[in-house]
Amino acid sequence: MERTSPAGGVGRSGKLRIRIPDRAPAAPAMPQTRVLTGITTSGTPHLGNYVGAIRPAIAASRAPGVESFYFLADYHALVKVQQPERVQRSTLEIAAAWLACGLDPDKVRFYRQSDIPETTELTWLLTCVAGKGLLNRAHAYKAAVDRNREGGEDDDAGISAGLFMYPVLMAADILLFNAHKVPVGRDQVQHIEMARDFAQRFNHLYGNHFTLPEAVVEEQVATLPGLDGRKMSKSYDNTIPLFAPREQLKKLIFSIVTDSRAPGEAKDTGDSALFQLYQAFAGTDETAAMRQAYADGIGWGDAKQRLFERIDAEVAPLREKYEGLVARPERIEQQLRDGAQSLRAQYATPFLRELRAAVGLRDLGARVAGKATAKQAQAALPVFKQYREADGRFHFKLVDGERVLLQSRGFESPKEAGQRIAALRRDGFTGADAGLALGPEADNAAVQAALDALRAAEETKA
Ligand code: TRP
Repeated sequence: MERTSPAGGVGRSGKLRIRIPDRAPAAPAMPQTRVLTGITTSGTPHLGNYVGAIRPAIAASRAPGVESFYFLADYHALVKVQQPERVQRSTLEIAAAWLACGLDPDKVRFYRQSDIPETTELTWLLTCVAGKGLLNRAHAYKAAVDRNREGGEDDDAGISAGLFMYPVLMAADILLFNAHKVPVGRDQVQHIEMARDFAQRFNHLYGNHFTLPEAVVEEQVATLPGLDGRKMSKSYDNTIPLFAPREQLKKLIFSIVTDSRAPGEAKDTGDSALFQLYQAFAGTDETAAMRQAYADGIGWGDAKQRLFERIDAEVAPLREKYEGLVARPERIEQQLRDGAQSLRAQYATPFLRELRAAVGLRDLGARVAGKATAKQAQAALPVFKQYREADGRFHFKLVDGERVLLQSRGFESPKEAGQRIAALRRDGFTGADAGLALGPEADNAAVQAALDALRAAEETKA
């Protein structure tokens, strides 16, 4: 079900922000795509987060026609971090980092997951439609089981139910606001597929309440190398904190691994972590100049100095803002609470009321057509329609409401047409071919989504 876009911004405290002239009045002229993503509050933001997530996300939030939701996934953090001060500190640091880097809470929904208790309530509703077998196959859970097996331990040794349920909580984050697009790293795509699966099952059982979200994996954004040349990541302990003080930043940059080529010797840009880092911050001209310097045999010390100055030039003004924000946590606190409060009032609370009623958590006196909802859901499913044309051949099409998704050629017998349909349902859709044409307004993804919906419906029946 589509709900209307919010008219107002969040965070009316108005303290932190530079005021920008008022936005055009409410009601967006073009349809808005709702983009939502969460940031787990289990660490200190580093340069890799900045280049790979913060910088591109803030740029994307300024695009027309998108309505962005960014939130601090602190419930998710509890799966990994069980030191309360670290959860608290990380939440503050990440919030301050995003604001310092230019996130505008007047234009973007910015909130903290745990300020929206409807998230956990929805998690339970989804838990009751989530297939346990599907959760068994989640990468993070499976990896933990594999490690146990390797160590000769019991499969589930040391694994919390929180880790197991992680994908359901994440689905609740997304479905609670009926997000269309979810920008994530590759490792999270499976979670979005699971969210779709839970949404489909729920919609099938209780009527069409949820939008099916799509993962967006940004292929362009660089993954930064860390101090040791491997991908910059907390788990490799090779990160450079985004807001390290200038002196510490310099020290860290000077500790980046290089080869042993002496000054005067030409250097390779291809496998140089230093060069990749430089490129992530520099413009094209600067990068070309650095490439030339490598060819001319720049010494590693000089190259590091240049890298340090380049990064510091971009980061220093942000660092100053960051420090100001972190010094006054009560302002961020207020801003986050305001953000959550308006989202709850506008969406989460009424939506949960609707969902509770849909599943039967209802006023005992209310009269409702129980069967009708299941039938409506059935009617909302895409269908294969088989028919015979004037030429005597047997055709089929896949339709979703009014929309034709697929159109087949003519088959000799209804049995052949039926077999082709069965194969589609079993194997999925790999693209139009001689036997199948896409409908005028359809694309591969729409066909596959329809087949997924049919399969989900089939499985809930079974
Ligand atoms: N699991 C995500 C990560 O580790 C964080 C996250 C939590 C998230 N909830 C989300 C991302 C909802 C997108 C949408 O990166």
